Amino acid sequence: MRSVEWHNGKVRMIDQRLLPAEFRLVEYEDYREVAQAIRTMVIRGAPAIGAAAAFGMALAARESSARDRAGLLADLRAAAEVLRAARPTAVNLSWAVARLLRRAEAESDPSAIPDALLAEAQALADEDVEVNRRLGEHGAALIRDGATILHHCNTGALATVDYGTALGVIRTAHEQGKRVHVLVDETRPRFQGARLTAWELQQLGIPFTLIADNAAGHFMRTGQVDLVLVGADRVAANGDVANKIGTYKLAVVAQANGIPFYPCVPTSTIDLSLPTGDDIPIEERPADEIIGVTYQGRPIAPEGVRVANPAFDVTPHAFVTGIVTENGIAYPPFEVSLKSVFHLQS
Ligand code: MRU
Repeated sequence: MRSVEWHNGKVRMIDQRLLPAEFRLVEYEDYREVAQAIRTMVIRGAPAIGAAAAFGMALAARESSARDRAGLLADLRAAAEVLRAARPTAVNLSWAVARLLRRAEAESDPSAIPDALLAEAQALADEDVEVNRRLGEHGAALIRDGATILHHCNTGALATVDYGTALGVIRTAHEQGKRVHVLVDETRPRFQGARLTAWELQQLGIPFTLIADNAAGHFMRTGQVDLVLVGADRVAANGDVANKIGTYKLAVVAQANGIPFYPCVPTSTIDLSLPTGDDIPIEERPADEIIGVTYQGRPIAPEGVRVANPAFDVTPHAFVTGIVTENGIAYPPFEVSLKSVFHLQS
């Protein structure tokens, strides 16, 4: 099933916080609950939270008690603010909300808006799956038979509506019959690699080895990695890439060892309005994500310690070999190539 979908008038999603121990579906009837689910990471991954927010907008249109078009649009703009604020870094969230708002504003008959928004959210979700498949085809050309790929966080079916971005590339190569091996970064502090990527790869029958985040440099320096593939939450116009915390370190070490580093993104993750990655807002998450975990049943740190928990970092474009999109691979100079893949319609 998809990570998020419309089901009997509700938004249904997989509760990713519980995986891999438990597979549970949750349903929401109120857009505020969808915003809360995004904030608390019931659903996560840039394209997946974009689709969830789109369905949240469809809910908001149904929930509104406004009697006229102006009132309904005002309710939708308020819902858009709540959904957009749930997580700041992934541009897919505000991109999806803006698309749904535009669709509502284009409708002159207010009674047609709820169905129009549901159809738009469905279309956005369907497109995401199709886009990932195309992205997978472009990216798979980078993978030779027998390659070992280092991967960070989770960029698979769970992080998108279905199929995945960087993991989608690996999946396409596997489906093409190439032998691939994935080194899976556990991805602290929320363990998206250990919990979600390992779970997905196991189901797909793709060989992998789980490693501690801090082992990645060792594997790269000792010649055991051919390629680094990651996703992204926002790509600035100059090719700077915001992705899960720890990505920057991987890119620097990859370059130092002559290993290609490719973020894999749908064009909905490219934000041409931001000149550089310095302008990308970095989400700071609760300290509890770091000190709330236990080691052998005991706290991992003394009580009262100061904690910093940025959820993302920015990799400057100088460390990026190329950016894989559904419209082809962008190479430096990114100012030029990103514009061209962004505006290409397939
Ligand atoms: O905090 P998360 O789990 O939402 O972060 C996810 C990532 O950083 C992914 O790499 C990114 O969203 C791309 S998912 C296709």
